[in-house]
Amino acid sequence: MNRKYFTKATDIAKKIIEARVKEGNVVIDATVGNGYDTVFLAKLVGETGKVYGFDIQSKAIENTKNKLTDSNLLNRVILIKDSHENIDNYVNEKVDLVIFNLGYLPGGNHEITTKPDSTIKAIEKSLGILKENGIIVLVIYHGHEMGELEKNSIEQFVKELNQKQYTVIKFEFINQINNPPLIIAIEKNL
Ligand SMILES: C[S@@+](CC[C@H](N)C(=O)[O-])C[C@H]1O[C@@H](n2cnc3c(N)ncnc32)[C@H](O)[C@@H]1O
Repeated sequence: MNRKYFTKATDIAKKIIEARVKEGNVVIDATVGNGYDTVFLAKLVGETGKVYGFDIQSKAIENTKNKLTDSNLLNRVILIKDSHENIDNYVNEKVDLVIFNLGYLPGGNHEITTKPDSTIKAIEKSLGILKENGIIVLVIYHGHEMGELEKNSIEQFVKELNQKQYTVIKFEFINQINNPPLIIAIEKNL
């Protein structure tokens, strides 16, 4: 058995998600990409839960839809081909968790990537619909130019969140080379 606990950033994000998301929860995958996180979330929320999934690329929506169909999970997922900055046009209920796996689609066009302004708008809107003790998880890839700008904007934004209302933590691999991804997670306190 692999006993390593501090694995890669995406696996640490999954550990946070797994510890919190329960059957019947309503969650958002703000960047569905190839659908790995969406499938993971759809299993956790169970038949009585709901997952909203956003992506701006048809290819991402298609890949995710195929993965969900193969796993017989499509019935609990609403896939939306639009930017996550428009979350409030589609989600009219409080949510338990929002995951942002930022950056570009692996195997896709690296020019089509998440951007600071729309990411911040999406985080602001997500905070507005988060339940008490709900969580936002951000996996941030800052090894490319836009990613570095995005990381800086996000850090500046979350540092100013009122600590009475939100708890913000950061996981960073500080002894690894090549700008490994980092995680920022926000919990709503009240
Ligand atoms: C790193 S990938 C996500 C990986 C995915 N979570 C998975 O499990 O495969 C980032 C995705 O964000 C999408 N994206 C970029 N800008 C976006 C936006 N404004 N709104 C929603 N999705 C966006 C990209 O198209 C890409 O598919």
